Amino acid sequence: TSTEQDFKVADLSLAAFGRKEIALAEHEMPGLMSIRKEYAAQQPLAGARITGSLHMTVQTAVLIETLVALGAEVRWASCNIFSTQDHAAAAVVIGPDGTVDAPKGVPVFAWKGETLEEYWWCTEQALTWPHAATGGPNMILDDGGDATMLVHKGVEYEKEGAAPAVSTAENDEHRVVLEVLNRTLAESPKKWTKLSSEIRGVTEETTTGVHRLYEMHQAGSLLFPAINVNDAVTKSKFDNKYGCRHSLIDGINRATDVLIGGKTAVVCGYGDVGKGCAESLRGQGARVIITEIDPICALQAAMDGYQVATLDDVVETADLFITTTGNKDIIMASDMAKMKHQAIIGNIGHFDNEIDMAGLAAIDGIVKDEVKPQVHTWKFPEGKVLIVLSEGRLLNLGNATGHPSFVMSNSFADQTIAQIELFTKPESYPTDVYVLPKHLDEKVARLHLNALGAKLTTLRKEQADYIGVPVEGPYKSDLYRY
Ligand code: NAI
Repeated sequence: TSTEQDFKVADLSLAAFGRKEIALAEHEMPGLMSIRKEYAAQQPLAGARITGSLHMTVQTAVLIETLVALGAEVRWASCNIFSTQDHAAAAVVIGPDGTVDAPKGVPVFAWKGETLEEYWWCTEQALTWPHAATGGPNMILDDGGDATMLVHKGVEYEKEGAAPAVSTAENDEHRVVLEVLNRTLAESPKKWTKLSSEIRGVTEETTTGVHRLYEMHQAGSLLFPAINVNDAVTKSKFDNKYGCRHSLIDGINRATDVLIGGKTAVVCGYGDVGKGCAESLRGQGARVIITEIDPICALQAAMDGYQVATLDDVVETADLFITTTGNKDIIMASDMAKMKHQAIIGNIGHFDNEIDMAGLAAIDGIVKDEVKPQVHTWKFPEGKVLIVLSEGRLLNLGNATGHPSFVMSNSFADQTIAQIELFTKPESYPTDVYVLPKHLDEKVARLHLNALGAKLTTLRKEQADYIGVPVEGPYKSDLYRY
């Protein structure tokens, strides 16, 4: 692609294939498609300039085109260096009515296999709106919080007048962010302050990004309101669980094609993601062992029939290790040194700090070899080989294509509704972190029942009065945990 064009993807000629898969996905995303219909006339996102930072997949293409159908202008980057599906990115750039020579879609900055420098360049491009007076978006749609973090760090350093100097001791990710901010401070010292001045809010997709938002809010540094989409019931109890139940083994199979039945698999973390991962591995006939730090989740795992152990107890004997914690330093180099020959190691949590890749690389005499993109063997001096998926980044998007459309229709319907809420009712959302009101959560679930042939029972008035809820919902108190 030429540098004059306001987008950057791997290959526009993949767009026709992307468009075919988008058409198939639309049928599987009844939530998004019915929201398109419901709001077609009203155009609630007219005037919205949405910067998205979220895995650029086929499902995300349907989300992007839904936001556009509701009136928004959109710019997009992926939130992971390996998660872009290049045909989806190309199709979104070209748009439903454009051609390779005359793209009419959305500026996307994403391709599979970005370097860290390219990744942060793409995020900056998605946040930079050449034709807007502020130079920025007025809404952010984030997954993991990188776009939100870049804006916040930019504003913070502009206030201080300088960003910390770049030190080579910093981890790579932090170093690249600081390089970007040092450059923008030199080029245009108020870029981020100006760029963020019209941002009405952010809607955040995942557990890890939500965690960052609450931290910023507690520290008093959150610049605009946020909707925690992750903790909508129709998001985390579906995407994180049933989505990972599908896409975890999809990633393992595409990467290794190793037979899972009969193997011993360790799943670190038994939250929503861990529960889905454990179930899928058990479904393939693996013997699944859970590690947990939370006694409640550990007890759940035990009651669900899994052995609960520490990593130390099982590290030498298990065949497969999956991290799902959203925490750091879960599998260290010293653990990997104890694993058996051809053990498989992968992470499905948001960031790549669950597995100590730097420590692995630093082992004296270790040799890394690429089997194929996103699948590497690490040969120890004594001859033992480990297989690491997606270099420790989320393997369901690195080695496979992420969650399937139907489950993402729930998450992305929540996202779309959250964008409409924050954009159209800014006065109802002073700076804070919110979850979607329950009636909207129930609405998203309702939108998906028909497609599965599920028939809902209607509450009778006397029954509704007896349990103290309105006939039309919401049906549960905020304390209910599903
Ligand atoms: P969660 O908070 O429900 O579960 C994480 C679990 O890990 C908790 O139960 C916690 O007690 C446990 N944990 C923390 N430290 C641990 C340790 N040292 N050892 C063992 N267990 C430990 O979070 P959720 O929703 O399951 O998300 C987990 C991660 O996955 C997050 O980073 C999230 O952003 C990401 N995610 C990834 C998706 C994907 O498609 N790859 C989809 C959804 C979420």
